[in-house]
Amino acid sequence: MTAPGLSVPRARGEEVRQELLDAGILRVDFEILREGDHLVFPLSGEPSSLPSGWGDVVQREFPRHERKGPMQYRDLLAWDDRLKDALPRAFDVVGDIVLLRLPPELDDRKGEVGDALLRFVPGARIVGLDHGVHGPERRRTVERIAGTGGWRTRHRENGLEIEVDIERAYFSPRLAREHARVAEATRPGEAVYDLCCGVGPFSLTIARAGRAARVTAVDSNPEAVALLAESLARTMHGERVTPLATSLEAFLPSASPVERVVMNLPHEGIKYLASVARTVAPGGSLHHYEVVSRTELSSRGNALVNLLAPEGRFVVQEQHVVHPYSPSADLVAFDLERAR
Ligand SMILES: C[S@@+](CC[C@H](N)C(=O)[O-])C[C@H]1O[C@@H](n2cnc3c(N)ncnc32)[C@H](O)[C@@H]1O
Repeated sequence: MTAPGLSVPRARGEEVRQELLDAGILRVDFEILREGDHLVFPLSGEPSSLPSGWGDVVQREFPRHERKGPMQYRDLLAWDDRLKDALPRAFDVVGDIVLLRLPPELDDRKGEVGDALLRFVPGARIVGLDHGVHGPERRRTVERIAGTGGWRTRHRENGLEIEVDIERAYFSPRLAREHARVAEATRPGEAVYDLCCGVGPFSLTIARAGRAARVTAVDSNPEAVALLAESLARTMHGERVTPLATSLEAFLPSASPVERVVMNLPHEGIKYLASVARTVAPGGSLHHYEVVSRTELSSRGNALVNLLAPEGRFVVQEQHVVHPYSPSADLVAFDLERAR
């Protein structure tokens, strides 16, 4: 049957599948098509509602799903429909760890949900309830509900292997497309700062792309920086990245300007933005991430440009929603270019 589909590179397949599930527009009764190095996901919703940059919308003939096993993890639970409706559709997979959030009314059934996910997700070792990130280092509080072992794992994205410990250092599997996008934007010979690098997904992806001459990766969480150092040892061009366990407060005052700066500190970043902007060379780019209320989405780019005016002339080269953050706010990427 002919239906709209979203064509994306295979390397982003799992991430996009999760995003489409989150958005409730993945058609689960049709098969996903494999076309060379691309996957085409069948869409049930209105393709025009997809954020820009998610992939190319195409029309395809999709065969009906003939999967022998369950199509969704909820199919493994012998619950009545009312209870199943309270289950979240989406969950995150980080390496061999499955993470999800449950509404309080399902708290006494969390073990059953964990067991279902453990059976449903190929290669899953442990399932945890995600109680959110906290503190300046954005460490995650997780509660094991099924499986065994700890929260240390190796996550694969964009052809990379990233050492992760979800309790000790921040990591989100929902940013893979951003990591790839920033790496693709990097030009030959550039010097890059990855500020608030966490376990270093931006630095690793930029290094692997092979164009940056050097990357300085800065984070105040020494455990995050140690994980990055481990991943670098196994990454092509990893020697071009210098991981530094230090704070922005200590690093920024003596940092010389570079061609590209990434700062993914969505809640607190604004207080450093002016000092970070001083480290962007003329003609260079600043990739800034921020949680923005939907009512401010259209005006926020100009507000940032005005805020940075005392430091230099910046223009918004690109702005897009990375993913929804709450019912009224989104995580937004701003690419700010400094005039020459
Ligand atoms: C949202 S995480 C982003 C991690 C990484 N860039 C990524 O995309 O996965 C923010 C990171 O900022 C670091 N951080 C917070 N405040 C900082 C500061 N003042 N100086 C340096 N790093 C800081 C935290 O330790 C955390 O790893």
